[in-house]
Amino acid sequence: MIIKLEPINDNNRDAVVALSVREDQPFVATNDYSLREAAEANAKAPGTARPFAICAGEKIVGFCMLALDPEDENPVDRYCLWRFMIDKSEQGKGYGQAALHEIIKYFKENGVDTIYLSTAPENEVGLHVYHKVGFKETGEIEDGEAIFVLKL
Ligand SMILES: CC(C)(COP(=O)(O)OP(=O)(O)OC[C@H]1O[C@@H](n2cnc3c(N)ncnc32)[C@H](O)[C@@H]1OP(=O)(O)O)[C@@H](O)C(=O)NCCC(=O)NCCS
Repeated sequence: MIIKLEPINDNNRDAVVALSVREDQPFVATNDYSLREAAEANAKAPGTARPFAICAGEKIVGFCMLALDPEDENPVDRYCLWRFMIDKSEQGKGYGQAALHEIIKYFKENGVDTIYLSTAPENEVGLHVYHKVGFKETGEIEDGEAIFVLKL
C-alpha cells in the first residue's frame, strides 16, 4: 500500500479540515484546531510543528502532526507524534498502520532516535496499532494519557 505524507498547503488544507473521526473516538482534536496550534507553534519556533495530509494515492485519508522541537523542556514533547487520525470513512483499511511506518521513516530521516506519543488508555485501536509498529508504554501517565516510546 502506497501512503504518502504531504505537507499541508493551500491545495490540501480544506480537505484535511473536512476529515473527522467517529463520535465514539474522542481521542483527537479537530484538524482545524490542530492546524491553528501548528501555526502558533511555528510562529514562536519555526519548523517545530509539522502537519501533513495522509494520502493514499490521490485520496486524502487522514492527518498527522509531528513535533520536532529539540528545545522543548519536556523530553516527551521534543520528538513526538502530536496528532494522528484517519477519516471515519477510511478506517480499518490499513491506512493507519501504513501511515505510522511513513511517520517513523520521516523521523529517522530527520536524525531522530526516540519518538514519543500519548493516548487515552481506552483507545483500543490506537493501542493496537501503536504496539504493532513497535511503540511501548513507558508506564507514565500525563494528563490522563499513557505515554508510549519507540527507540529507532
Ligand atoms: C487509530 C487510527 C488512526 C487507526 O487508523 P486505521 O486506518 O483505522 O488503522 P488500520 O486499519 O491500519 O488498523 C486498525 C487495526 O485495529 C484493529 N482493531 C479494530 N478494532 C479494534 C478494537 N476494538 N480493539 C483492538 N483492535 C482493533 C484492526 O483489526 C486493525 O489491526 P490488524 O491490522 O492487526 O487486524 C484510527 O482508528 C483513528 O483515526 N482513530 C481516531 C483518532 C485516534 O484515536 N487517533 C490517535 C490519537 S493518539
